Amino acid sequence: SENSPQRIAVVAGDGIGQEVMPAALACLDAVTERHGIRLEYTHLDWGSDFYREHGSMMPADGLDELSRHDAIFLGAVGAPDIPDTETLWGLLIPIRRAFDQYVNLRPVRTLPGVPGPLATDRPIDMMIVRENTEGEYSEIGGRLYRGRPQEAAVQETVFTRLGVSRVARYAADLALSRSGRLTSATKSNGIIHTMPFWDEIVAETAAASGLGGVDSVLVDALAARFVLQPWSLDVVVASNLLGDILSDLGSALTGSIGVAPSANLNPEGIHPSLFEPVHGSAPDIAGKGIANPIGQIWTAAMMLDHLGHRAAAAEQIAAFERVLDAGICTGDLGGTASTAEFTDAVVREIRRGE
Ligand code: NAI
Ligand code: MG
Repeated sequence: SENSPQRIAVVAGDGIGQEVMPAALACLDAVTERHGIRLEYTHLDWGSDFYREHGSMMPADGLDELSRHDAIFLGAVGAPDIPDTETLWGLLIPIRRAFDQYVNLRPVRTLPGVPGPLATDRPIDMMIVRENTEGEYSEIGGRLYRGRPQEAAVQETVFTRLGVSRVARYAADLALSRSGRLTSATKSNGIIHTMPFWDEIVAETAAASGLGGVDSVLVDALAARFVLQPWSLDVVVASNLLGDILSDLGSALTGSIGVAPSANLNPEGIHPSLFEPVHGSAPDIAGKGIANPIGQIWTAAMMLDHLGHRAAAAEQIAAFERVLDAGICTGDLGGTASTAEFTDAVVREIRRGE
C-alpha cells in the first residue's frame, strides 16, 4: 500500500563496496527523511567472504530472497584470489537474467569540477540504454575440432523481436522525456542479418512511440562522434556488445570511474531492478577510506527515481554536485577529502535543501 515501506536488498559486497555503501545509505537516510519516504533494508552479507565460507557467492535460495524486494542495491563484487568468472556468474549475471533486467541504463554527464580528457568545456549529458539480456552475449555456439588445424569456434548473436522492441521502447520513451533525440548504434553494413533486423524494429518502435524518428548511426562512426561531438548525443540505444563498449567510452569522457552510476532495469517492475556503480571492488585502495562514494550515491538516486521518488533523487544529485562545486572531492578527482568527509558534506547539503 501507499504507506508500507519499499523493501531494498542491500549487498555491499567486496572491497570498497564496504566503504561506499554506508556512504550512500547515509545520503539515502537524509533525503528519505526530508521527503517522508520509507525504505526498509535487508543487509545481505553475500560476496567473496561468503564464497570462501560456503563455496558460492550467495545462498542457493538467494534469488528467491531477492525477489521479495522492490529493488536490489549492490556495491561491488570481486576479489583478487577468486576468479572473476565465479564472482560475476555467481551473483551479477544470474540476477540480471532471472529478473529480466533488459535495460542497462548508464547516464554519462559532466560533473562540476570534474575534468574529462577532452579539450573542451562543453557539457556532455547523455543516457546510454544498453540491451542487457540477449544479442551478442548468447550462450549459443560451440567449439569443434579442438586442438586440430581446422579448429573452429562459432557464437551466434540472437536478436528477438520482443527483446529489441522492448529496449527500443524504453529508449524512445526516455528520449521523449528529454530532448526527443534518439540515436541507435548499428553495424548493418557489415552484420547483414541481425543488424538490419535491429534497425527495422528500432525504427518501427520509435515511430509508434511518437518520436519523429531515430538517427541510426554505424557504430564505428558513432564511436568517433562520442569523442568529437559528444554534446550532439542525448539518448543512445545499443545492443548488448555495442552498448557495453559505448558505455565505457562514454564514462571515460566524463572523468573518474568512481563517479559513474548504472541501473539494470526491469522497467515493468514485475521483478526487482538492480542498482550498482560502474566501478568494481578496487582492491588497490580498499580499506583506506579514500574511495569516491559518488558512483554509489548517484546510483542510489537512480534507485529512488525508479521507485517513484523523482524529487528526492534530483535533490540527492544536486547535493553532491554542490559539494563538488565547492571544491571538495576525493583523491581520484585530485582532492584531499576522505570518503567520510565527502559523504558528511553531501549529507549536510541534503539536510540544508535546495
Ligand atoms: P575497479 O573499478 O575496481 O578499479 C579500477 C581502478 O579505478 C582502480 O585503480 C581503482 O582504485 C579505481 N577506482 C574504482 N572505483 C573507485 C572509486 N570509487 N574511487 C576511487 N577510485 C576508484 O576495476 P578492476 O580493478 O578492474 O576490478 C577489481 C575487481 O572488481 C575485479 O575483481 C573485477 O572483476 C571487479 N569488478 C566488479 C564489478 C561489479 O561488481 N559490478 C565491475 C567491475 C569490476
Ligand atoms: Mg563493461
